[in-house]
Amino acid sequence: MNLPTKKNQSSALSGFHKLSLAGRRQVLTERSDLTSEEIDILMSGGLSTHQADLLTENAIGVLGLPLGLATNFLIDDSEYLLPMAVEEASVIAAVSRAAKIIRRGGGLKSEVDEPIMIGQVQVLDLKDPRVAVKLLHRPESKKEILALANNAIPNMVARGGGAKDLQARLVGRDAGKEMLIVHLFVDVREAMGANVVNTVCEAVAPKIGEIVGGQTNLRILSNLADRRLAKASFRVAVSALPNFDYSVEEIARRIVEASNLAKADSYRAATHNKGIFNGIDAVAIALGQDWRAIEAGGHAYAARHGQYRALTDYRLEKKYLIGEIELPMQVGWYGRVAKIHPTIQVLRKLTGITSAGELAGVLAAVGLAQNFAAILALVTEGIQKGHMPLCEKVKQR
Ligand code: MEV
Repeated sequence: MNLPTKKNQSSALSGFHKLSLAGRRQVLTERSDLTSEEIDILMSGGLSTHQADLLTENAIGVLGLPLGLATNFLIDDSEYLLPMAVEEASVIAAVSRAAKIIRRGGGLKSEVDEPIMIGQVQVLDLKDPRVAVKLLHRPESKKEILALANNAIPNMVARGGGAKDLQARLVGRDAGKEMLIVHLFVDVREAMGANVVNTVCEAVAPKIGEIVGGQTNLRILSNLADRRLAKASFRVAVSALPNFDYSVEEIARRIVEASNLAKADSYRAATHNKGIFNGIDAVAIALGQDWRAIEAGGHAYAARHGQYRALTDYRLEKKYLIGEIELPMQVGWYGRVAKIHPTIQVLRKLTGITSAGELAGVLAAVGLAQNFAAILALVTEGIQKGHMPLCEKVKQR
């Protein structure tokens, strides 16, 4: 049985957590498409100092992180085994347990926007920024700027991406002292997009300055990638929730109340969202993503209405509990790290994921499941009792 790349075969690996390291290696050998050499790469840490030297400057070594496997994930009717690089005890056990409960209701569903990233060009020294906005929004200005943008990224255009539109915005509160910022909307296809967008911003800045008669300053992407959202959701019968000292109805009510608190209070929302990123970051790191960008986008999106809020939402619909998440997801499937890092190459094969869009949906789903795991523990036995014992290593101490 091939488990990882055959997405129609169950990811519910019963008893996997009880095996020794050698036992888990045996399971991977028997049941995955990975070769013995590939499993060696996973188990030995993978990255050589030579490869580290290719990836970063002033390299002096390699830092290891524990790598585990999250099980039970059913997302968009496909089965996923998801690698997580994380040192915090209980994250992997908790998310696997949550995914097991969620699959009772048919698993997670995801929805992902087109991969549109935003680039920003700041313009200074304008006589009247409002006139500048009008000048930039003329069809002939847009056409000229977008043509220059696309000339700078021919490979991306050949792959079906490229600069699609622009929008001039005034920012700043003091009337008459607003700043002009030009947003460029770039379809980055399978890339995370930072390099492509930065190239575009630098290529078009002189023309923008010329059209509006000002000087350009910053030229850089925005990590608030709110045109590249990923959503995930699940719907599980209240009766399928695990039974603790409370009835399942009471647990469902408490989950919704926990969600309401994280929507109303930034102090709680910060911790609530931290738990979401426990899951997202761990998978993102294992698959070679820029997790700082994903975090920055998520937190900025959480504050988009002027108050920092939860990225997830829970509600009851008749006898069902619905969980939802929505956040920007700036991930790439092609990139330098994936080309160089041997462990990441093996882990990509292990998941069976084949595109940036698929990865974005998976990461949103993991964030929601991780959050569900934390809330379930918090509203029942408490995090110390409910979460920590899930980790065998902690139990043994
Ligand atoms: C701990 O790393 C994360 C939690 O605090 C998240 C939460 O409170 O929702 C358990």
